[in-house]
Parts: sequence; C-alpha cells; structure tokens
Amino acid sequence: MKVLLLGGGGREHALAWTLRHSPALQRLYALPGSDAIATLAEPIAGDAADAARVAKLAEELDIDLTVVGPEAPLAAGVADALQAAGRRVFGPSRAAARLESSKIFAKEFMARHGVPTARFVACAGAAEALAALDQFPPPVVLKADGLAAGKGVVIAEDRAGAEAALADLFAGRLAGSAGQRVVIEECLRGEEISLLALSDGERWVLLPPAQDHKRALDGDRGPNTGGMGAVSADELLPPELRKRIEREIVAPVLHGMAAEGNPLRGVLYCGLMLTAGGPRVLEFNVRFGDPEAQAILARAEGDWATALLSVAEGHLRADLLRWSPQPAACVVLASGGYPGSFATDLPIHGLEVAGREAQVTIFHAGTALRQQHWVTRGGRVLGVTARAETLAAALEHAYAGVEPIRFEGMQYRRDIGRRALAWIAAGARI
Ligand code: AMP
Ligand code: GLY
Repeated sequence: MKVLLLGGGGREHALAWTLRHSPALQRLYALPGSDAIATLAEPIAGDAADAARVAKLAEELDIDLTVVGPEAPLAAGVADALQAAGRRVFGPSRAAARLESSKIFAKEFMARHGVPTARFVACAGAAEALAALDQFPPPVVLKADGLAAGKGVVIAEDRAGAEAALADLFAGRLAGSAGQRVVIEECLRGEEISLLALSDGERWVLLPPAQDHKRALDGDRGPNTGGMGAVSADELLPPELRKRIEREIVAPVLHGMAAEGNPLRGVLYCGLMLTAGGPRVLEFNVRFGDPEAQAILARAEGDWATALLSVAEGHLRADLLRWSPQPAACVVLASGGYPGSFATDLPIHGLEVAGREAQVTIFHAGTALRQQHWVTRGGRVLGVTARAETLAAALEHAYAGVEPIRFEGMQYRRDIGRRALAWIAAGARI
C-alpha cells in the first residue's frame, strides 16, 4: 500500500512511526513532513491544505490512502478533493469537519441530537453578546466560533473580564476572523478527559482514553497551549463510564452526522468534562489530538495502514487495531516563550543519549536537521514518550528520557500525569 501522510508535527511523526509498523505498507510519503519524519517517509515540499495540489499528488504517485494529520487541510476541503478524484482518504469531508471548525455548528448539532454539553448562546455581534451575558453568572466561557489554534477560548472570572474578552474577540484581537461569531457558555467543573473514536461514518471503535495538559505551567496555570503533555491509560475511564460516554455522546454524534448527510470518516475526538451531572462535551476535533496521539499511538499494535484504509473505504475493520495494556506518557519540551513568540534554530543536545532508553520514543514536533545536528524549529519541539507497566512507571521513564536533553530556553511541565494519577487513585468516579 502507498500512503500519503499530510502534516509535519509531533502527531504526524507518531502517525508515520505507527504506519511504518504495518506489514501492508510499501511506501510512505509525507507532505510536507519534517526532517524527523523523513527518516520514516519520503518528504514532499508543499502546502498540505492546498486541496487541488494534494489531489493531483495522490493521482501522480498513485496513492492508495491519504492520512490527514492536522485540521487545516480538512477545513480546506482536502478530503472532498481526494474523494472527487476517486482517492481514498482517512479524514472527514469539509462539511463533517465543521464539528471542529465551527463551534456554533457543533453546539447547535449537539442541541439537535440531545448530546450533553454546556448550556450556551451563539452570538453574531457585540450588543447581542453583552445582553446574553446576563444569563451566565461568572465564571463564564467565551469561544470564538472558528479555528483558532487554542487561542479562541477565554474563561472569564467576572463580568468585567467577560466584557473585555468579548470586545477583544469581536475586534479580532484574540482570534482574528475566527471571532466574528462567539459562543458564550456555562463554565463546567470536573475532570477533563479525551476519548477518541475511529469511524467509517456508520461503525466506530473507541481508542484508549487520554488526558492532555493544555496550560503552559505546572498546576494548570499560565496560558493555554496546543498541549504540554499527555497520558493514555485504560484506568482513566472505568468500563461503565466509558460505555456511558459511548452511549450518550459517541453514538448520537456519529448517528446524527450520518443522518444529516455528513457521515464522519476518520477520527471523532471528544474533549469531555466529567461533571457531577455526567459527561459533557467541551469540544470536538475531527483528527488525532497533539500530543494525545503520541501517548495513544505509543500503545498501538496491529496493522494500522490497513485499518485506516478500511475506515476510508467505509468498512471499518476494528479487528486490525490492537492496544498494549501498558499506559503511556508524553512530555512536551517547548521553546522558551511558547505559546508566545520564541527563538528558533537553537541546537538541541543529548537526543542520542535520551533515545537509548528502551521504553522511550522521541517524537519530533518542531525540529530541523542542520549539518547533521538537530535544531529547534517550532514552539513545541519534542515529545518524549514512554510506555511501561504502570502509568507511574511510564512517567518515570519519560522524565528519565527528558533528563539528558538540553536546548537554550527549554521549558516543560514537571507535573505531567500527576492529575491522572490522583484521579485514578480516587477511583476515576464522577
Ligand atoms: P476548547 O478549545 O473548546 O476545548 O477549550 C479549550 C479549553 O478550555 C478546554 O480544554 C477546557 O480546559 C476549557 N473549557 C472549554 N470549555 C469549557 C467549559 N464550558 N467549562 C470549563 N472549561 C472549559
Ligand atoms: N491537544 C489538543 C488538540 O490537539 O487539540
């Protein structure tokens, strides 16, 4: 099988690594890939969100399956272009991708299908939004409608903060044009868990649960980021709770999308708050999370290339996906200043030593190779990932893998997985 992978970050490095383990894989290309991904796939320069170019490339290289990593190509209609050209694609149509690309679409869809989520109002203008604020005693959550790479969500502690954030959103200062329309919603409390499903539009299979760490600093403080680390462990969701989420959320979402004529082929990522009143949806993504993918895929076994092809063909073969029962953890090493501005091209030391640990796999998020030496290239630089008998052991191995790595300004959280360990120790109950 010839596979084209779209994207070039840590998630795509993990996807390339997983696909490489497939016996069915003959050739793997990556657009644009990265220097790290180039050790696993043949890189092709260009823009993964250029739908016409991707379709032409798939034609020229006679690609059997295109696997879409990030959200931008999906929102740009890359899957539609590939399908129109008669090419198989793992990743939903632009219409189905609205579950992620429009928070208003997602909220109204959930309301139509009785999917539990935070109470909300959608607003198209500042005056309307200010009036709607009266219905939401602080703290209140404000979200830009469109894709904003994590910058479009504000949790305002009081009315003045909410008004200031609304002004920023509508003026385009927080999330650019993504903030032309805004969702105001109630603030939910509880444990935040990610549960992903692979779906062919009709059937689905759940992946092992994961927990992200979105805030930049230890103790969940500091600004929101793309994700500073993640863990995946079955114990995060006891079987009953997992079944409840599947019944109350995954099933109605996938059935609802199909019933509305937009079957979701690819990943349904449910960002959930496990509240005292039950699981509630915070957000959907229609792709693997980054860095959740690194933790989840570190546990992947089986023939992923054939499994993802079966999704693309509309005949999901869940039997091809198997999981190690061992938990996994990923610690992100980020550039100093991230998620704000940061320097690049700084030499990275100690990678070879770190990679020698048997349990450790290092996924590159933002690096480049300069004269045989790795340098920093992005905000998130590396995802040091480990799998072991217990979550505590996986975390120990991951942090042991971090130890020898150095670059100027390197920052990372020291408390990845601490919350998950406490949640599991308390019985993982709501
Ligand atoms: P989102 O992009 O919608 O997932 O929002 C980013 C982060 O904001 C989430 O991961 C949560 O930590 C937080 N968040 C979003 N919506 C809510 C909510 N209704 N209540 C509390 N926290 C929220
Ligand atoms: N780590 C969160 C995301 O990928 O959206």
